[in-house]
Amino acid sequence: MAYTVVTLAIYLPLETYASIPYGLTNPFYLVDLVAMGLMAWGAWRSWRARPGSSVSVMIAGCAWASANGGRWRIDAARDRRTRTAYCHCNGCQDKRMTDNDDIPIALEAYEKLAHAYSAKSETKAENGYNEHPAMRSCIGSVDGLAVLDAGCGPGFLTRDLVAGGARRVVGFDISPTMIEIARERVGNDAEFMIADLAKPLDLPGDVFDLVVSSLAIDYVRDWSVPLAEFHRVLSDNGRLVMSVQHPMGSYQWFQPPSAFGVHYCETEWKGFTDEPVVVPDYYRSFEEIINPIIKAGFTLTNIHETRPVDALRAIDPRKYAKNSTFPTFMVLEAVVSSASLARH
Ligand SMILES: C[S@@+](CC[C@H](N)C(=O)[O-])C[C@H]1O[C@@H](n2cnc3c(N)ncnc32)[C@H](O)[C@@H]1O
Repeated sequence: MAYTVVTLAIYLPLETYASIPYGLTNPFYLVDLVAMGLMAWGAWRSWRARPGSSVSVMIAGCAWASANGGRWRIDAARDRRTRTAYCHCNGCQDKRMTDNDDIPIALEAYEKLAHAYSAKSETKAENGYNEHPAMRSCIGSVDGLAVLDAGCGPGFLTRDLVAGGARRVVGFDISPTMIEIARERVGNDAEFMIADLAKPLDLPGDVFDLVVSSLAIDYVRDWSVPLAEFHRVLSDNGRLVMSVQHPMGSYQWFQPPSAFGVHYCETEWKGFTDEPVVVPDYYRSFEEIINPIIKAGFTLTNIHETRPVDALRAIDPRKYAKNSTFPTFMVLEAVVSSASLARH
């Protein structure tokens, strides 16, 4: 009995504290409460019948342990409720794979998501506490630079580039609603246009010191066009900093038929809007990420596998633990070198 009381006195506050970020009505906390109640009740009964007996305590302990085991299942189910992935590449024969970016696959989805994405993503574990800080840190100082923000979305990065003292900032995106929101967010301090990463850009060459692109190029199947365009608009020694899905993370989400190659997949996003939105995407292996950058004439200077910032630990300890041990995104840094300019 004493053992049970001490265990509950330690475990109950700890469990309550750990569960706060998920809400105290979340299923695994409620299941644990029931298990703990059973444990206390069993211990009380056994103590009254035969003081000192530990049989009921052991049974209740087992119930508690199984409830805790069930927690991981509930956690996994929670993840599935937030994002559900299907790979539709059908052994790479899917028509959308061979269309070669004639239709921007993610346009419809981002038109639906734009307002919710703008309102929520800065407080999302994956964006606000992981990818955003990693990109800012890799980009470094932009003071006095001319910067192109490719796939700027609702303009978070564009806003920060302006605030960081960039001399000129141009943002583009395929989604007209995203561009409208970005304009509202940043005002006239940046130039915005609707453009497709998969098509040549209506911009002169050799005009930017830096091209940044945050989680946008993933939605393009053939990277040769956007990378050639980034290379063309950058001046000599210009820099490219872009974030993409890490192949390990996206392999786990999309479960494509093969870890090699590029595969068209769809992900159901349930965390932004009331109704789930199907977001088409591409799974891309490591060589499919690195080689196009080299072939476009860039010299890779750094690959950074992003990790969440410390602030996430208190806000969402489960995501913090998960994303600290398994990569979701990576930031690639590359430069245009004089040697590569001579070849192009
Ligand atoms: C995950 S959001 C990232 C937005 C922004 N960079 C940020 O970090 O908040 C992806 C963005 O890529 C844009 N996008 C998708 N396909 C595109 C394409 N083919 N050309 C230009 N933008 C595209 C979407 O409209 C969306 O705004």
